[in-house]
Amino acid sequence: MKTILVTGSSGLIGSEVCLHFARLGWRIHGIDNNQRAVFFGAQGDTRWNQRRLEATIPGFCHHELDTRDRQNVLTLMAELKPDAIVHAAAQPSHDLAATIPFDDFDTNAVGTLNLLEAARRAAPEAPFVFLSTNKVYGDAPNRIGLKELATRWDYDDPAFEHGIPETFTIDQSKHSLFGASKVAGDVMVQEYGRYFGMPTCCLRGGCLTGPNHSGVELHGFLSYLVKCNLEGRLYRIYGYKGKQVRDNIHSYDVARFVEEFIANPRCGEVYNLGGGKGNTCSILEAFEMIAAISGKPTQYEYVDQNREGDHICYYSDLRKMKGHYPCWGITKPLPDILEEIHLGWVTRNHRQ
Ligand SMILES: NC(=O)c1ccc[n+]([C@@H]2O[C@H](COP(=O)([O-])OP(=O)(O)OC[C@H]3O[C@@H](n4cnc5c(N)ncnc54)[C@H](O)[C@@H]3O)[C@@H](O)[C@H]2O)c1
Repeated sequence: MKTILVTGSSGLIGSEVCLHFARLGWRIHGIDNNQRAVFFGAQGDTRWNQRRLEATIPGFCHHELDTRDRQNVLTLMAELKPDAIVHAAAQPSHDLAATIPFDDFDTNAVGTLNLLEAARRAAPEAPFVFLSTNKVYGDAPNRIGLKELATRWDYDDPAFEHGIPETFTIDQSKHSLFGASKVAGDVMVQEYGRYFGMPTCCLRGGCLTGPNHSGVELHGFLSYLVKCNLEGRLYRIYGYKGKQVRDNIHSYDVARFVEEFIANPRCGEVYNLGGGKGNTCSILEAFEMIAAISGKPTQYEYVDQNREGDHICYYSDLRKMKGHYPCWGITKPLPDILEEIHLGWVTRNHRQ
């Protein structure tokens, strides 16, 4: 039986990867210390998801470990010598990073180095998948010519008809401290691939989503938006007239790509992993879509100030991923994703 080590296992992506590989017959080890509750308070608590994994995955082994704890990361990796590693633990918020720069950098950059070096020493052949972010491109995508449509912005440049490719510059733009700490991790993951020949890849995520996100205002776009709609909370739109565009991908389709990469790994690769153009929406459009499901409007207020370094329009060009892994594609269209998030919320709140 093969072993996979997943960091951030109680989070959205980590938990999906754990369940996916358990279904494929792998032995699952997860690392998570519920740091999300420290970052975001009770609303970000992911213990419920840890309990879900413990209840549903036979033999699931949870490690209450902080990825910043270098010695214990080295020790665990040496003990496990996993066949694959998925690193999804992070300080994931763009806005929060500026208030906790040491925690942000230590988690996103140094924590990633701890795992890479532990992998190089104990399991250098194991495919290493890093969850990076589209914020590595900073606000450079905002320099692309845009057109304003009734409910959204879109690129007004045929070069970006399919979205942002992996060749887009990551340099000389405003990233937020989060984007900068993720760049450090991203470049290091590439380097362990190119310099040491390890099978590593960076997945530069757009909006990763699904029913198992502990969405909060500062992280988890659709999950938080649906929560606001259903709980009658006020949603704040920050700038860009609410027409800012995001591409959304279900965590299941993320896990399916991770499976493809692990089955046929490459060295030091980079992929833009989002829902692509077909799964885009603006905030205003997301309000409409959730209202159609829940039957009620979202209460919102408009703040005429965009978030620092925030993208006006971003969607991933998926052609490189599909070129390298032709069996992979999006299986969950946006309306289905919203239905699932809605159902997940209803089910969880019904149980409580
Ligand atoms: N969700 C998105 O929209 C999105 C977009 C782009 C990139 N990403 C990236 O994908 C990855 C996973 O995101 P997610 O949405 O699943 O996040 P999440 O916050 O739901 O999950 C991350 C998990 O990591 C844990 N964690 C954080 N710091 C830790 C530490 N120091 N030690 C141990 N555990 C720790 C948290 O408790 C949490 O359970 C992150 O690297 C994030 O930057 C996410």
